[in-house]
Amino acid sequence: MLLDHKLAVVTGASTGIGFATAQRFVSEGARVVISGRDAQKLHRAAQQLGEDVLPVVADAASPADMQRLYKTAVEHFQRDVDVLVANAGISRQTPVRETSLEQFSDVLNTNVGGVYSTVREALPSLSRPASIVLVASLAANQGTKNFSAYCASKAAVVSLAKSFAAEFVELGIRVNSISPGVANTPIFDSLGMSEAQLLEWAKVIPMKRPADPAEIAAAILFLATDASRYMTGADLAVDGGMSGISPF
Ligand SMILES: NC(=O)c1ccc[n+]([C@@H]2O[C@H](COP(=O)([O-])OP(=O)(O)OC[C@H]3O[C@@H](n4cnc5c(N)ncnc54)[C@H](OP(=O)(O)O)[C@@H]3O)[C@@H](O)[C@H]2O)c1
Repeated sequence: MLLDHKLAVVTGASTGIGFATAQRFVSEGARVVISGRDAQKLHRAAQQLGEDVLPVVADAASPADMQRLYKTAVEHFQRDVDVLVANAGISRQTPVRETSLEQFSDVLNTNVGGVYSTVREALPSLSRPASIVLVASLAANQGTKNFSAYCASKAAVVSLAKSFAAEFVELGIRVNSISPGVANTPIFDSLGMSEAQLLEWAKVIPMKRPADPAEIAAAILFLATDASRYMTGADLAVDGGMSGISPF
C-alpha cells in the first residue's frame, strides 16, 4: 500500500474533499489525524473512517489549536508527520459593494491565515522527507463575480505553496498545491446553492459534470506519495478540463 505506516494530517476532514482524502489515505495504510471546528461533525466522520483515524477539534487559523493538534498527533501515533494536507477552507459570496473589510478578512483569515498556521506550526513535527499539499482552487486564476475574497485567498494559497517549497526544499520537504474545479461537496450548501444549481454550473465544464470528492482525493494521494517525488512548488489542476480547454 502507498502510505503503509505513514502518519498523515488532513485539516477540514469532517466532510467533502478532506473526508474523501482521509478515507483514501486509510485505504492506503496510513494513520490519519483529521480536524475541523464542529466536534459533532468531526467525531461522526472519525467513526465512519475507522480505528486508524484520530479526530482533533481545531481551528486551522489558530496557531495554539494547531500546536495542540500536532502534539496530540505525534504523542498518539509515536511518529512524526509524513504527509500534511492543508485542506480546511470556506467559501462566501462577497459582492464588493455589500462586503465590509471585516467580512473580506474573515475569508482571508481562514483560507490564507489557516494554511499559514497549519504549515508553520507543523514544521517541528514533520518527518524528513515529508510532503505537504495545499488545497487551492481553479478560482485562484479566474476572476469570479461576487467571489473576490475567495478568489484572492486561493491565489494566495497557490503562491504560498511555491514560497514554502523554495524555503523547505533543502529540508527534504516538498510542497505542492492542488486546484480543483467544481467538486460535489457541502461547501455549496454554505453558499445556499442547490444540487440543481450545481449541475447547471457543471454544463460549462468540458467533462460536463462536477468531480466526485474521491477524484480530488486521488490527485492529493499522488502529491502525497513518492510517485510525485520530483515535484515541488507545482500546482496541479484537477478540474475536468476547465482551466486547460477553451470553451470554443
Ligand atoms: N468543492 C469544490 O468545488 C472546491 C473547489 C475548489 C477548491 N475547494 C477547496 O477544497 C477545500 C475543501 O472544501 P470542500 O468543498 O470539501 O468543503 P466542505 O465539505 O465544506 O469541507 C470544509 C471542511 O473544512 C472545515 N473547516 C472550515 N473552516 C475551518 C477552520 N477554520 N478550521 C478547521 N476546519 C475548518 C469544515 O469543518 P468545520 O466547519 O466543522 O470546521 C469541513 O470539514 C476548501 O479549501 C475549498 O476551498 C473546493
